Amino acid sequence: MLFRTLVLKSSGIPTVRETVKKSALFKPLVQRFIAGEQVAEAVAIAEGLVDAGYQVSLDRLGENVASRDEADHETVGYKELASSLFSSRCKARTNISIKLTALGLDQGDDVAERNYRDLLAHCATESMFVRADMEGSTYTERTVSMIERVFPDHHNTGTVLQSYMHRTDDDLDRLLALGCRLRLVKGAYLEPSTVAFQDKSKVDRQYVDQAKKLLKRGFYPALATHDEAIITELREFAAAESIPVDSFEWQMLYGIRRDLQAELLAAGYRVRVYVPFGHTWYPYFTRRLAERPANLLFIARAMLGR
Ligand code: FDA
Repeated sequence: MLFRTLVLKSSGIPTVRETVKKSALFKPLVQRFIAGEQVAEAVAIAEGLVDAGYQVSLDRLGENVASRDEADHETVGYKELASSLFSSRCKARTNISIKLTALGLDQGDDVAERNYRDLLAHCATESMFVRADMEGSTYTERTVSMIERVFPDHHNTGTVLQSYMHRTDDDLDRLLALGCRLRLVKGAYLEPSTVAFQDKSKVDRQYVDQAKKLLKRGFYPALATHDEAIITELREFAAAESIPVDSFEWQMLYGIRRDLQAELLAAGYRVRVYVPFGHTWYPYFTRRLAERPANLLFIARAMLGR
C-alpha cells in the first residue's frame, strides 16, 4: 500500500513525469504494457491475439481532457478506432474500452453523455460493445448514473465496478437490476479510507464474493484479475455451480501474466486481453508501475547495469 501511494503520488510531480516519458530506461516497460501509439499498431496486435484464440478490448488511451473541443476530438478518435475495427479481421472478437473523462465528464455530464451516445450509436451499427472504465472515486456515482441513463437506449454498453470501494455491493445490485454487462476489478486508483478499503485481504475477499454473485446473476460478466489464487477459487466455484464456461470471461491486461492468459485459454475459457495504445500512456503506465514493486526493481537493475 505504501509503495503504491508513493508511486502514484510521485508520478504527479512534473520532473518525474518528464523523466519517465523521455528516459530510455523505461522504454522496455512501456512497450511491455502499451501496444504502440498508432491505431494500426494496436489493431495488428489485436488481430494477432484474436488469431491465437483470445478476445480483445482496445483502449485508446486518454483521460481528463481539458476542454469541450478536446472531448469532441477524442470522440472522433474513438469512432475512427471503431471504424478501423469494423474492417479488420478481429472485429467479431474485439470491443472498445473508454474513459468518460476522455469524452468530457470534467466539462459536464451533458457533454460526456452527448459524446458517449454518439459513440455508442456509431458502434451499434456493427454490434460493437463499448465499456466505460471506472475511474477515481469522484467519478463513481456519475459513471453509474450515466450508465443508468444511456443503457436503456444503447444496450451495447456496460461498465466496471471496483471491489476496493465501500459502495460496490450497492452498485452491484443497482447495475444488476439494470441488466448491463459488468467487469469486476480490484481498483487501481489512490483512494482514501473514507471511500475504499485499504487492507488488501479485505479487497480480495470482497472481490471473490462479488465475483461469485456476478457468476450466478450477472449478464456475461468479466472477471478482470491476474490473481491466481482468486482465479483458482472462482474456477472451482463455477464448476461446482455448473456455470457454463461461455457465460463469462476472464480479462487481463496486455503484457501481464501472459502465461496465465494462455493457461486459461487452453483450459477452454474465454479470455479477453485489454490492449491500451496511444500517445497519452503516462497515467495508465504509472498505475501499472504502482501495482507491483518488481516493475520498479526492473528499472533499478537496468540503471545499475545488472
Ligand atoms: P493483484 O494486484 O493482487 O495482483 C495479482 C498478481 O497479478 C500479482 O501478484 C502479479 O503477479 C500480477 N500483477 C498485477 N498487476 C501487475 C502489474 N502491474 N505488473 C506486473 N504484474 C502484475 N482498475 C480500475 O480502477 N478501473 C478499471 O476500469 C480497470 N480496468 C481493468 C481492466 C482489466 C482487463 C484489468 C485486468 C484490470 C483493470 N483495472 C482497472 C486494474 C485493476 O483494478 C487492478 O489494479 C489490477 O488488475 C491489479 O489487480 P489484480 O486483480 O491483478 O490483483
